[in-house]
Amino acid sequence: MNQNSPRTVIIGASSGFGAALAEHLAAADHRVLAGSRRERPSTTSLRHVRLDVSCAQSVSDFAQAADAHLGGQLDGLVFCASDSGAVARAWEVNTEDAARLLDISLLGFVRIVNAFVPTMKNSGRGSIVCVGSQAARTCLGLLSVYGAAKAGLEHYTRCLAHELHGTGVRANVIGIAAETDLAQTHRAAKAELRGRPSTHPPLPPVADNLPLARWLLSDDAAHITGQTIEARLP
Ligand SMILES: NC(=O)c1ccc[n+]([C@@H]2O[C@H](COP(=O)([O-])OP(=O)(O)OC[C@H]3O[C@@H](n4cnc5c(N)ncnc54)[C@H](OP(=O)(O)O)[C@@H]3O)[C@@H](O)[C@H]2O)c1
Repeated sequence: MNQNSPRTVIIGASSGFGAALAEHLAAADHRVLAGSRRERPSTTSLRHVRLDVSCAQSVSDFAQAADAHLGGQLDGLVFCASDSGAVARAWEVNTEDAARLLDISLLGFVRIVNAFVPTMKNSGRGSIVCVGSQAARTCLGLLSVYGAAKAGLEHYTRCLAHELHGTGVRANVIGIAAETDLAQTHRAAKAELRGRPSTHPPLPPVADNLPLARWLLSDDAAHITGQTIEARLP
């Protein structure tokens, strides 16, 4: 890591895709600041700070920590936070579960964008990547609110990219498929509701999904903005 190392913030980095991406980028010479509610050990290249994206004060404190740690510069911002609740038949959704999911998965991203985009705009560069889902565009079953949150996230990001046109800041959505806590919680909740075990084969390892995010963060993808791209193995 040196003065020219890319400075990257990863939100939702205590497990699954976010944790793996944080470690992967830190090993690839990024200076990474990672945030989530659960703490993780910090290293020289990967600093962990507590963050709850559903709390405006926590987001503001985290943005200050990022400013101090990254010297007021930011090249990449990745939003991976999501909630695995509200798995239900569409006519039986608990609205408190739905509100929590939207607060984290959609409004959490809006709070993060409000806190970080001014810094990126000022420096005239930066790549924002948020993790969407196939559920935004396909009815996956028992995931109506999760899919609605991801559809909102995708459209918000498309608008964000459009409004950032000419600033040097890009914003894209990726879809992933990985065997993580969230995937397993979804599968178990669906099996319970359906009264039968899941027959879905295990998803690919998280590592298979990392190159797409790394590429979108890099200058090799300087011509890509406002897009939704799925990491799917052939
Ligand atoms: N796995 C898949 O196949 C798949 C498919 C499509 C999309 N996705 C998306 O991929 C992203 C990563 O999920 P994952 O599969 O890696 O699951 P995961 O391991 O459960 O990761 C979710 C992350 O979100 C964080 N988070 C949750 N609430 C938060 C809050 N209020 N504030 C800050 N961070 C919060 C969690 O950390 P804390 O609990 O410590 O806060 C955790 O680090 C999610 O957006 C998910 O919707 C996953």
